[in-house]
Amino acid sequence: MKVNFVDLRAQYLSIKPEMDAAIAGILESCAFVNSRSFEKDFATYLGLKNVVGVGNGTDALCMAFHCLGIGKGDEVICPANTFIATAEGIGWAGATPVFVDCEPKYYNLDPTKIEAAITPRTKAIVAVHLYGQPADLDPIMAIAKKHKLLLVEDCAQSHGATYNGQKCGTFGDVACFSFYPGKNLGAYGDGGAVATNSDELAAHVRKLGDHGSNVKYRHDFEGINSRLDGIQGAVLSVKLRHLEQWSDRRIAVAARYNAGLKDVCVVPQTAPGRRHVFHLYVIQVNNRDELMKHLSDQGIGVGIHYPVPLPVTPAYEHLGGKAAGFPVACGIADKLVSLPMHADLTDEQVDFVIQEVKKVAK
Ligand SMILES: Cc1ncc(COP(=O)(O)O)c(C=O)c1O
Repeated sequence: MKVNFVDLRAQYLSIKPEMDAAIAGILESCAFVNSRSFEKDFATYLGLKNVVGVGNGTDALCMAFHCLGIGKGDEVICPANTFIATAEGIGWAGATPVFVDCEPKYYNLDPTKIEAAITPRTKAIVAVHLYGQPADLDPIMAIAKKHKLLLVEDCAQSHGATYNGQKCGTFGDVACFSFYPGKNLGAYGDGGAVATNSDELAAHVRKLGDHGSNVKYRHDFEGINSRLDGIQGAVLSVKLRHLEQWSDRRIAVAARYNAGLKDVCVVPQTAPGRRHVFHLYVIQVNNRDELMKHLSDQGIGVGIHYPVPLPVTPAYEHLGGKAAGFPVACGIADKLVSLPMHADLTDEQVDFVIQEVKKVAK
């Protein structure tokens, strides 16, 4: 039985008439460059005043840090276990990422280790809601408040996740979203957004992404071209209508995996008060290579998120990070395996994956 890691074709077929009509609408109107209608839809969904569509999630981070006034000489607290884009955003703005280890149970930024990493140069904390599970925002926000730091949420993996009933993306000064096709809310190409209640910040991000301009051919500063195009916006508005139901299905798939695998490997745990939307379903095993080969041979898609923690990745070697300084992130990196996770998985497929993991996992 083939089980794809993600299955964008199955998802498309499940919403084909609605999706085809939305894309045809853009082709008819030729409104190709912006996506104001989706921005409104997503702002309403989040309950925030402003959503600014940008080219991708990495741009969203770069632009957010820059527009928050973070730059040369500044430091930003960043989890050791995340995709490189989180740290790239900090570096691109001119600042330095200061990595902090993750919690052993939930894989997110460990709030108990943040204060030791704060210096007089620290300007912000970036909380990544990794794999779809909200970071522990209450203690993180308390630390940010105590030290007068900005809070940036990296929501690239957490569309629809909630912390104590409140949506991720609504806690920080700004939230950055990716709509990369495989994300829980994914476009048909690259896409991203910056979400914030600050009108001033939103206007700055919009201007930055439109060549430093909000009046045609009047450029107030040198910007870039980073906008969410009309077709992606239309695609995302259609998918947004299904997001809650898709999230529920991901949660049900994760529960089925957990029930089947809890005695054979370390399975993901959801912290109290959180809606973990399982962008990724990540287990820990002691024989990763063997398990991944076996699953691939059976036609089961697998992945690793992430094989090398950022402090010891070549791009950040110059910062002097050593594995010993990040015992949790570096201790689990050789054990992590991501199993197929998407809303179109059938129970039969999930049971097949469980059966094959059980044969080999140690
Ligand atoms: C945690 C995290 N942050 C940022 C990004 C960057 O998003 P994009 O690929 O849209 O640039 C990703 C995407 O993979 C991500 O997983």
